[in-house]
Amino acid sequence: MPILNRAAEMQEEVAGWRRHLHANPELNFDVVETAAFVADKLKSFGCDEVATGIGRTGVVGVIRGRLGEGAAIGLRADMDALPIAETTGRPYASRNPGKMHACGHDGHTAMLLGAAKYLAETRNFAGSVAVIFQPAEEGGGGGNEMVKDGMMERFGIARVFGMHNMPGLPVGQFAIRPGPIMAATAEFTITVGGRGGHAAMPQATIDPIVIASQLVGALQTIASRSTDPVEALVVSVTKFHAGDAYNVIPEKAVLAGTVRTLKKDVAAKAEERMRALCAGLAASFGAAIELDFDANYPVTFNHERETAFAADVAAAVAGEAQVHRAIQPLMGGEDFSYMLEARPGAFIFVGNGDSAGLHHPAYDFNDEAIAHGMSYWVKLAETELAP
Ligand code: NI
Repeated sequence: MPILNRAAEMQEEVAGWRRHLHANPELNFDVVETAAFVADKLKSFGCDEVATGIGRTGVVGVIRGRLGEGAAIGLRADMDALPIAETTGRPYASRNPGKMHACGHDGHTAMLLGAAKYLAETRNFAGSVAVIFQPAEEGGGGGNEMVKDGMMERFGIARVFGMHNMPGLPVGQFAIRPGPIMAATAEFTITVGGRGGHAAMPQATIDPIVIASQLVGALQTIASRSTDPVEALVVSVTKFHAGDAYNVIPEKAVLAGTVRTLKKDVAAKAEERMRALCAGLAASFGAAIELDFDANYPVTFNHERETAFAADVAAAVAGEAQVHRAIQPLMGGEDFSYMLEARPGAFIFVGNGDSAGLHHPAYDFNDEAIAHGMSYWVKLAETELAP
């Protein structure tokens, strides 16, 4: 079965919603207008229930099938944008300076709205579909907030599915894997406290810049020398702040960065090594080194049965040759991980074609992907909830 005719017919309408969302990006939990737009659309489609304010600004629409009682499944999209100044020059480019839909969440939201409209019109399934629109995917943990708010129990959701676009994957193709598909993320801040003084009299100081520089080098050994080479681990120092003058050795230097892993024991080992390196360097230089290590999103873990099912649905929509069933995991983080910890499910990528990369100022969601993504959602619901 190729893409649904009705989905292809709806492409322009859904692309219009997408461009509206693109022009009006909002950040984090402050997706007030976006959530209102979503809730209005869901009501206009005749959803049986439209709940707002879940996990602060999340929205859930419930559509009951006409083929009898049954389980509920959750289909999830994200609504938030990024603090990036857009450079696409599109007529529908961001009207909110410094904010931009650079991860395609405008497209995810529009595609799920399109699927909701289709499913509310046809209702060819038993049980119910909960369409989930979450805030704060880009670092705020909005998915976790919705889970903690009791969303799964309230709507009786038995299984959950998520979708994200992927630049570089041709339009009309899908990519997935069982097990870990996206990384666990942690953020760290290291404060190196030394003794400041005159730059021409370094012997009277404990130079935090020299110590922090050694630490940056030492941190590279966590992945290269302390971890099994076949395990995935990223340790990136992304901030290094110290000093204000040419002739002053400052009192302190601050390093910060991110750690990405696919397994809990690798993450624990990385933190343990980081603490040991900080303590060792502090002792050897007589400095005070403080480490804050904050575990953030967990691994996005695709469940076996649901992943095979999702891949089969994608193959039914796109053809088997268009579905990559065993891609490499990506070391980015994803807030859908919390929903997959709460319920079995699967997270899939849909091709965005030859676009700029995610989080790039020239990125744009590809409207050609809409009919493919919508068809996947509809087919998934109708197959999983067949009576
Ligand atoms: Ni994203």
